[in-house]
Amino acid sequence: MKPEIAKLGHVALVTSDLNKSLFFFKEVIGLEETEEVNGVHYLRAYSDFQHHTLSLEAGEEGYVKHIGWRTKTANCVESFKEILEKHEVAFEEYPKGTTVGIGDSIRFKMPSGHTFELYYDVEKPKATNGNASVLKNQVYQSWRKGISPRRFDHVNIHTSTDVNASYEFLMDVLGFNMREYMRGDDGILAAWLSVTSLVHDVALLKKDTLPTPARLHHISYWLDDSQDILRAADILKENGLQFIGPGKHGATQAIYLYVIDPGSGCRVELFSGGYQIFEPDWEPIEWTLEERSSCNTYWGDTVQDKELNNLTIEVR
Ligand SMILES: [Fe+2]
Repeated sequence: MKPEIAKLGHVALVTSDLNKSLFFFKEVIGLEETEEVNGVHYLRAYSDFQHHTLSLEAGEEGYVKHIGWRTKTANCVESFKEILEKHEVAFEEYPKGTTVGIGDSIRFKMPSGHTFELYYDVEKPKATNGNASVLKNQVYQSWRKGISPRRFDHVNIHTSTDVNASYEFLMDVLGFNMREYMRGDDGILAAWLSVTSLVHDVALLKKDTLPTPARLHHISYWLDDSQDILRAADILKENGLQFIGPGKHGATQAIYLYVIDPGSGCRVELFSGGYQIFEPDWEPIEWTLEERSSCNTYWGDTVQDKELNNLTIEVR
């Protein structure tokens, strides 16, 4: 049986200003800190069950070390090793605890240059310091501080490499389903892919003018309601942070708001609405170049005409 990825796990982020990033992610976005080990802060949203969905550590500049994915079973990690070998993709093995809270893992580079990490075992620590939710099916109290998103949702990555090789890799090797895509004159320019019923767990875009081949455009946290996005806008404004949105994407149909962490330069999308896919024979939705503006922004503050939108950080 082909191994499968269950879900997006976490992003390992390095920041050139740890204090600014910690304030941004913990007090403004409102993520909870599971623990800090050797200077690395492990953060998650109030209903993220796994140990962390974002790790934050100090470095000379803002970049992403890797993007983690949880497999469906422990055996899947072993099977992925065999498949990667068959495709002549080099990978490195890391024992349990190399990433705190994460079991045995492997890391490899996508054809796009992004480092992906695969693992199955995760710790699911309960909330400490009296911050546990009364609800048995939730980790922390909701709305405790800042914007307070429910959970990690997706990553949006860019590449200047031959993007088609990466779409094929995501689908044929890693088992992602293409849900929507934009066709340009020379092939697909952007695609939304998932292993879950979400429209995308990852969006991958082709951009010719990038400072390095593999970039991260944003990480995204989910809020339950579009009203929560308006509340988030007020909180960002109160903290003197510039943002793009609110608006609604055509692709994915989600309500969005984008803001950049002033410490790392990592963009965060606050995300709600949208639709889910349950059909096993889903036909990917095609958007044409002529439809590009409504694909990006169905209504609201546009994402494509601002210099801010071109900022990305490296994924090593
Ligand atoms: Fe997004």
